[in-house]
Amino acid sequence: MTGTANGSAASGRHIGYDLDEARAKYAKRPFKVQHDLPGNPLFELGALADLAERLPEGSIEHHGGNRSVIAEDAIELGERTADSPAAIIRTIGERPGFVAMPVSVPGLPRQAGYQELFEELLVDLAPMVGVPVGDLQDHHGVIFISSGGNTTPVHYDPEPSFLLHVRGVKKFSIGRHPDPEAERLQLETFYRHEGRNPKVVPVDVEEFDLTPGEALHVPPCTPHWVENGPEVALSFSVGFQTTADHLRRGVYQWNGRVRKLGLTPKPYGDSAVRDRMKGNVMVTAFEARRRLLRRPA
Ligand SMILES: [Fe+2]
Repeated sequence: MTGTANGSAASGRHIGYDLDEARAKYAKRPFKVQHDLPGNPLFELGALADLAERLPEGSIEHHGGNRSVIAEDAIELGERTADSPAAIIRTIGERPGFVAMPVSVPGLPRQAGYQELFEELLVDLAPMVGVPVGDLQDHHGVIFISSGGNTTPVHYDPEPSFLLHVRGVKKFSIGRHPDPEAERLQLETFYRHEGRNPKVVPVDVEEFDLTPGEALHVPPCTPHWVENGPEVALSFSVGFQTTADHLRRGVYQWNGRVRKLGLTPKPYGDSAVRDRMKGNVMVTAFEARRRLLRRPA
């Protein structure tokens, strides 16, 4: 990518896309963009196994792979295997396995090379979001390494994200919950950190076949799942949150509390004014709690 603009084309250091299309669809609809990560030595399996050995113990999700589209309870609880993440990566071409390695998330030590790349990717993406890059907060950079045939079960993510595919092929499916009211309850549960895997298969599904050099935008709070092709697959998920995402979280948390009191709250999205009021109350409370926890005893 060359860092030039031509018509509505945005070509950053690593990611290129049609700016008009991206701005129209961002956070609403999935769409593909192009990137230059295939061939980057940061994503060679040896480098990734070395990275796994440097990351804090417990920060890496890993299991033996081969899951179903609808998650079993063990997955929701973050099941781990006896094999270390580095050992799974080093043998990923020979046996089933799955590793999700955080390389840029709040509270994690800076990972040289990966952190700089993550920040360069944010610079490329900021124009489509329409905010300064400094307003892209709560960074979420995770590398997924998985064996051929692996499935990542249906789940929700709170942040808008881009899955930059680097190796192998993946089929990425995005749909919607068949019952809007059931989905609202699911998202309230999700924002209470009590489960992110719905027990129903989404409907109105769009399927995207991803090959190296392609990335898919995943709008926030849309149920999705991923199925690998026969080869080892490797992707870098780049996500972040803006004020709009914090407000949405606040509304679902508010509604979850109101529902526990036996009331029926107005759904998120029904009224922008009401959503802003609920969201601002919860965001203010969240920030106050965060400041309190940071204060030395
Ligand atoms: Fe996801």
